Amino acid sequence: MRLDRLLSNLPRFSRKDVRLALLAGRVKVDGLTVKDPLHEVREFSHVMLDDEVLQTGKPARYFMLHKPPGCVSATTDPQHPTVLDLLHEPDKHDLHIAGRLDFNTSGLMLITNDGQWSRRLTQPATKLPKVYYVETEQDIGEHYVQKFAEGFYFAFEDLTTQPALLAILDPRRARLSIVEGRYHQVKRMFGFYDNKVVRLHRESMGPLRLDPALMPGQYRPLTAEEIQQI
Ligand code: URA
Repeated sequence: MRLDRLLSNLPRFSRKDVRLALLAGRVKVDGLTVKDPLHEVREFSHVMLDDEVLQTGKPARYFMLHKPPGCVSATTDPQHPTVLDLLHEPDKHDLHIAGRLDFNTSGLMLITNDGQWSRRLTQPATKLPKVYYVETEQDIGEHYVQKFAEGFYFAFEDLTTQPALLAILDPRRARLSIVEGRYHQVKRMFGFYDNKVVRLHRESMGPLRLDPALMPGQYRPLTAEEIQQI
């Protein structure tokens, strides 16, 4: 919400009072004086007018989870365990997943209550690479590399995938870097060659790598440094 809107919610404040209070430097957001009425105040921000707390700001929360295969990237599921079942945290309904993984895909999953942060991580425009380790049923041809770089046409979405970097590790294993997260994207890319993905594991999202100390099903909070990298 805009700072002037938040202040004008105070019944005793007219629009003019809001402007004057801001100009006088009486308003602090997260400890810093803010004079701009258009300043966007987030739900996580602490807002003060003189010595009065106007908004305490709820804590922003960020977790890294090692998703095991066989669990659903959703908050609830009638049949299967979900990634949220693996989190032992209060107010889990406030959290969401930044970039889902399929039921049998394992690896890095980021979970947060900060929508802006998760959008930066997942929207194709920011072009943050997501790196997957892939095992396939058939051999991976050298000619795949060029096609992955050129893009695949996905008729359902009517789009061509952004350039992807495929590194072949051995005939049936590869490491793939993509900047989007279309539905079943990796499986559909290999599906172009009728080559079934038999193992898929996300190693990293942008600068954030799955912590090797986390066993499947384990999680930890992100460090302040990791949060700031996004
Ligand atoms: N691509 C897929 O096909 N599945 C995933 O889980 C992630 C990317």
